[in-house]
Amino acid sequence: MKLYSQFFFPRLLDVAMAVEPFPRYRKALLRDVTGNVLEIGFGTGLNLDYYPATVKQLATVDPNPGVNQLAQKRIDASGVTVTHHCLSGEALPMADNSFDSVVSTWVLCSIPDVAGAIAEVHRVLRPGGKFFFIEHGLSDEPKLQPWQRRLTPIQKVIGDGCHLDRDIAALVKAQFNPVDYQTFYGDRLPKVAGFMYQGIATKA
Ligand SMILES: C[S@@+](CC[C@H](N)C(=O)[O-])C[C@H]1O[C@@H](n2cnc3c(N)ncnc32)[C@H](O)[C@@H]1O
Repeated sequence: MKLYSQFFFPRLLDVAMAVEPFPRYRKALLRDVTGNVLEIGFGTGLNLDYYPATVKQLATVDPNPGVNQLAQKRIDASGVTVTHHCLSGEALPMADNSFDSVVSTWVLCSIPDVAGAIAEVHRVLRPGGKFFFIEHGLSDEPKLQPWQRRLTPIQKVIGDGCHLDRDIAALVKAQFNPVDYQTFYGDRLPKVAGFMYQGIATKA
């Protein structure tokens, strides 16, 4: 599994998540990111091109050394200084109240202790700081939900821990208030994996 997780999966991710509609969604989410920024689940660095020019520095975390290796090429080619930490989002080494913005794009589906990771995001944001997220998860269609639950064990294998059936809005709302978000099916994606939650949660 280590060979799949750290060699094949990163390459799959790097290709599959670089094509439309993902770039369009990245651009729309990241345009208002400001200040001192942390990105969790940095992956292969596909968000780097979409940060506003005012974002010159980025702290990042991702526990998979295979994705970090691919990310390095993009980091070198970008104008952004990236301080990367090869570790999980559930136990961030950063101080309380230390970021203006935290970003997560299609990551909350894969974090084993997702509630713990969102609590960490909340802890490291300053009061008034914003959590920018776009994630896929549990559909609002009752007919589709059992299929998302049935297929999650297979998806966890193919997607290196990815769940299809997480209620992202409920998870974020358990830590944050207010949470401003919308849901929609991603263009050209299978409905079972394409129900998106895109939003901004603010730390009170
Ligand atoms: C579907 S990929 C998305 C990558 C990237 N955010 C993007 O938009 O292209 C999910 C990422 O979450 C990372 N991840 C998995 N478990 C994690 C954890 N416990 N903490 C932080 N990131 C994690 C994976 O290594 C992978 O890079």
